[in-house]
Amino acid sequence: MKKYILGVETSCDDTGIGLLEIDNNEMNILYNKRISFDFYNTKFGGVVPEIMARNHLEAIDKLVAEVKKIVPLNQIDVIAATAGPGLIGSLSVGFSFAKYLAITNKVTFIPVHHLEAHIDVVNPSYPALIILISGGHSMIIYAKSLREYHIICNTRDDSFGELIDKVGRELGLQIPSGRQMEEIASTCDQVINPQDIKIVLKDKLEFSCSGLKTHFIKMIRSQKFSKLYMAKLLQETIIQNIKYKIDMATELTNCNNYIICGGVSANSRLREVMHTAKFPSVELSTDNGVMVAYAAKKHLDINSKMINNIEIEEFSSMSLSKWILSL
Ligand code: KG4
Ligand code: ZN
Repeated sequence: MKKYILGVETSCDDTGIGLLEIDNNEMNILYNKRISFDFYNTKFGGVVPEIMARNHLEAIDKLVAEVKKIVPLNQIDVIAATAGPGLIGSLSVGFSFAKYLAITNKVTFIPVHHLEAHIDVVNPSYPALIILISGGHSMIIYAKSLREYHIICNTRDDSFGELIDKVGRELGLQIPSGRQMEEIASTCDQVINPQDIKIVLKDKLEFSCSGLKTHFIKMIRSQKFSKLYMAKLLQETIIQNIKYKIDMATELTNCNNYIICGGVSANSRLREVMHTAKFPSVELSTDNGVMVAYAAKKHLDINSKMINNIEIEEFSSMSLSKWILSL
């Protein structure tokens, strides 16, 4: 019998709605739309929580109305929503909306952790080294099984996504800047001088981006380098730092089953360098509703304690390993 799962994602500055059809073991994406409020970020130099909450409400209403035309709500089997981590004002809009829809239509409700959604959309096999790089997080997880996640590398300050967006702002790019950084980097013919690539914390299995941010901003302000070269250097520096720590993690765990996910994993140069890794499709790398539906499918498969757990409230932060332990 076919099953339909609706996924709702509003953890930050995108409203993402996805509809997944499960036909035996086959999964088909019936709907995947996202409304981004990037425009406001570029205008105000970052995310403004109050503006986000208002926009999410309008966007979610519009997108759910479109989904209803594909499958009526009372025929949907599961409604899943991101509970956190993220901006509380944004999360609460999507999360309460989804909970309300589920309760009023007598549909199963599943709360989802944003990071498990980024991972589950790749449908990983275990054991795996999961490299999760997004705007909010940068980490390497040694996942021995679906229920045992160890975070073996984290960032001591900013994430790679934040680094891209902050240096992007200095370069006058739109925010978030990842896609545009990639575009302009690909048009730069100049070869990167290997001495310009800085690897941070060489003897530690830990990321750090804030020193890189200062370093790049100084280089840009010195006006000795072209905008294109700086974008290409930023991209290459990030990739080489990630690769360096992946090699360390491989040595530590003996695991080379790589899963790379999160918004920054959309980068095609990274995909080229880490060609043995499994990535989500580019479209499903950045925040979207389909990944939330994939996570909900996993919850059903493992009969997780989150199924119909309406006591859970949205949260701004919670470690992924703690969440996985509670399933
Ligand atoms: O996962 P995501 O959509 O949101 C969070 O959970 O944070 O990640 C957003 C981040 C942004 O910093 C954005 O600049 C970056 O992903 N990003 C990229 C690319 N597309 C988005 N970074 C590098 N290359 C890209 N093509
Ligand atoms: Zn994300």
